[in-house]
Amino acid sequence: MKSQTTKNQNIHRSTTGMYKLVIRKKSSHLHEKIAIREEALTHCHENPRVLDCFHGDGTLWREIEKNRPVQVLGIEKSASLSRFEWIHGDNMRVVDELNISDYDLIDLDAFANPLPLLLKLWPLAKPGAVFVYTFTFVALYGLPPELYGEDDFIRKKARCIQNKLLEQKWSTFFKRLGVDALVEINVKEGGRIKKYGYFVKPLAKST
Ligand SMILES: C[S@@+](CC[C@H](N)C(=O)[O-])C[C@H]1O[C@@H](n2cnc3c(N)ncnc32)[C@H](O)[C@@H]1O
Repeated sequence: MKSQTTKNQNIHRSTTGMYKLVIRKKSSHLHEKIAIREEALTHCHENPRVLDCFHGDGTLWREIEKNRPVQVLGIEKSASLSRFEWIHGDNMRVVDELNISDYDLIDLDAFANPLPLLLKLWPLAKPGAVFVYTFTFVALYGLPPELYGEDDFIRKKARCIQNKLLEQKWSTFFKRLGVDALVEINVKEGGRIKKYGYFVKPLAKST
């Protein structure tokens, strides 16, 4: 494993066979989210079709569209001010009405956990399709903080164990899908880990 630390930005980079990881303590999330999507788009052809499953107001794609043509269809369960075409509803249901293999990039910018939707879309997406995701993990949700009381050592230890377990399980999950390369930005904030990343569905049939 190679590793490099940039003092000013408090960045730790590590490269393993499988991951390119960038760990930052502080970052502009909007900037990181846009950057990861712009990099993901380098794997798509000109004017790709994007299915934005957690569309919000379409803010990210509106920014990206300023620099290159994209055809975006959003899905949003709440009201939206989006200027893109979008469908109002629960993404888990709405996707049943769509031809998922039509899309070059599938955006899963969830508040918390995009994996149930990813598992649903995975067999339907075409080989070569790019998946972009946001995943948030809060290590202390499992046990109410009140139970730790003043025991800061146990609190930190518990957080550390769960974070390590997350990394292990995260990589196993993607290996099982047949994905051998993730590009990911990890943002650590208190007991929270946010993962902003993308990967390409392999061309060869995976298990
Ligand atoms: C992190 S925000 C996405 C922001 C968006 N990428 C943008 O550029 O504005 C997540 C959005 O997903 C929506 N959402 C959450 N669960 C959903 C679901 N099951 N179906 C559709 N939209 C959902 C939320 O209402 C919220 O607007």
